[in-house]
Amino acid sequence: MSDLHNRKVYQPNPEFAKNANIKSMDEYHALQNKAIENYEGFWGDYAKEKLDWIEPFTNTLDESNFPFVKWFDGGKLNVSVQCIDRHLKRRGEKTAILFEGDRGDVQKITYNELSRSVNKFANLLKEDLNVKKGDRVVIYMPMIPEAAYAMLACARIGAIHSIVFGGFSSAALKDRIEDADAKIVITADGAYRKTKPYMLKPVVDAAITEGSPIEKVLVVERNNEEVTWVEGRDVSYTKLIKDKSDVCAPEVMDSEDPLFLLYTSGSTGKPKGVQHNSAGYILWAQMTMEWVFDVKETDVFWCTADIGWITGHTYIVYGPLAMGATTLMFEGVITYPDAGRPWKMVQDHKINQFYTAPTAIRVLHKMGENEPSKYDMSSLKVLGTVGEPIDPPAWKWYYEEVGSSKCAIVDTYWQTETGGHIVSPLPGATPIKPACATLPLPGIMGEILDPETGQKVGAGESGYMCITRPWPSMIRGVWGDPERFVKSYFGDVKKDGKAVYFTGDGATYDKDEYITITGRTDDVINVSGHRMGTAEVEAAILKHKNVAEVAVVGRKHTIKGECIFAYVVLKSGEETGEKKEINAFIKQEIGSIAICDDMVFTSGLPKTRSGKIMRRILRSIAKGEAITQDISTLEDPSIVAKISEMVK
Ligand code: PRX
Repeated sequence: MSDLHNRKVYQPNPEFAKNANIKSMDEYHALQNKAIENYEGFWGDYAKEKLDWIEPFTNTLDESNFPFVKWFDGGKLNVSVQCIDRHLKRRGEKTAILFEGDRGDVQKITYNELSRSVNKFANLLKEDLNVKKGDRVVIYMPMIPEAAYAMLACARIGAIHSIVFGGFSSAALKDRIEDADAKIVITADGAYRKTKPYMLKPVVDAAITEGSPIEKVLVVERNNEEVTWVEGRDVSYTKLIKDKSDVCAPEVMDSEDPLFLLYTSGSTGKPKGVQHNSAGYILWAQMTMEWVFDVKETDVFWCTADIGWITGHTYIVYGPLAMGATTLMFEGVITYPDAGRPWKMVQDHKINQFYTAPTAIRVLHKMGENEPSKYDMSSLKVLGTVGEPIDPPAWKWYYEEVGSSKCAIVDTYWQTETGGHIVSPLPGATPIKPACATLPLPGIMGEILDPETGQKVGAGESGYMCITRPWPSMIRGVWGDPERFVKSYFGDVKKDGKAVYFTGDGATYDKDEYITITGRTDDVINVSGHRMGTAEVEAAILKHKNVAEVAVVGRKHTIKGECIFAYVVLKSGEETGEKKEINAFIKQEIGSIAICDDMVFTSGLPKTRSGKIMRRILRSIAKGEAITQDISTLEDPSIVAKISEMVK
């Protein structure tokens, strides 16, 4: 614990602070106090100032049906207007999307060009695919500009997009299509990875089986490899886009009309369709760009995430474009052709803010410790990290070698459900400490609470990371399952007798009330910054015909943060104790991200007499820890020694 309290403090760079959007801790506290004193006034003022309304809202926050809340009720707007149209007069010829392809091909798309492409795309969706307001459109795309056009085109006509990460398998894609009852899939033939073409369309083909709600598949041609074509269902983007008008009137949307769904793992086997609505989401996406990344008019911002994750939604597309920034979109692999690729890109494009995940930092550090020094990275001002706790050595390398000890590191803590950052340093104001998310952002009532008493925990104590008041970009529902929404997020912690939002993460305060996130308290594993539900992986493995039982836990991993460790019990008489085979099966069911690093084939699992698997014991065995729990109450205590022996 003393480590936590005695971490070195790094003050903001004074030169940077002079022109920062939030310049000092006094400013931070003034903003946070304003929000505490007049919560609705704080948010209402920003919503009026930052958003372009078609009609003004009449009520800032309606909590009467908590946790089903409404922000900016009565207001009308369109998110694509916020991201495009309102910039055209002043920034029409400014680069909106700076695209670098896998093979180094570069495209600069101005706001004027973005407007034309999105309007055409929107007309295509309406005219050729009969997409209407409220329809669900699944986007299964590589990292190419058309993916962003597709998102914004949906927003323009009021369709709800649901992006499925391109690494998910056809089975996972099928589940998400069916849960959302989507009628359209937008995909590409494929794209390029390490200069070689790879394919997406065949995955979509396999996901659309008898009874699928999908009516049409729109195929964007990226690598022009041959694909099979289903007549009447599949349509070519290149052919249809040609004669579309570049004018499409934006649909007038209510503040609380849904903008998108994004499926994420929870503690049950079935992923949750997290729903975000229009006004609140876009407001916070934009404000965090200004506050946390401190993006200025001429800056070039690069977030390395994939658009298939929330980070890609908020900080490649919606946030940067809402504030009129230049956002870099990268198709390739950051370690290819070598670990200098991102630093070369920083040099070539004069990147000012660079935002990535600790896993990427660890890989880049390991593969190319001295690579940053080979490039001119003097343009960098702010470095960001997200997705998992960062370890101090990775943080130090990032700070010293990548940022030349002059850039603030914003360790941004948030989740799919929060829409945008919730706990993070402000680069011109907050003294930072390695591997620490520091303080709740202004307007976010983030507190670490004791789950039993609902009281705020003291310095050095652990508790649950909660948000005690609804905030504008908060999740609005789990698609099709309002009960699950309430139970998943508002069931565990009560403050003053009232349910509060619980993130699922544990956290501690240090002596300065800085927040350090310690990781999930539920059965969710964080693999390379991606959330994997243990139940989801177990459900996939259980589908294998030879598997009788399975339990999955997380184990520490030097690069991935955590990796998946599976204990598999085969059906009697089955011999297939093959990790490779089970992993190939997982790849088919979910995708490569769920592949297990460790797999032990055992004759049984440690269970209580009522049949509950004791995962705590399995976690300890996976970590190589001594078993200190009482195992005498287990159905078969001898199994613990047997499994431990196998893992050694
Ligand atoms: O456990 C936390 C971890 O990632 C989870 C959210 O995952 P996801 O919804 O996929 O969104 C990832 C990108 C926002 C959280 O519950 N997490 C995220 N950021 C951090 C983090 N853990 C520690 N430090 C962070 N900065």
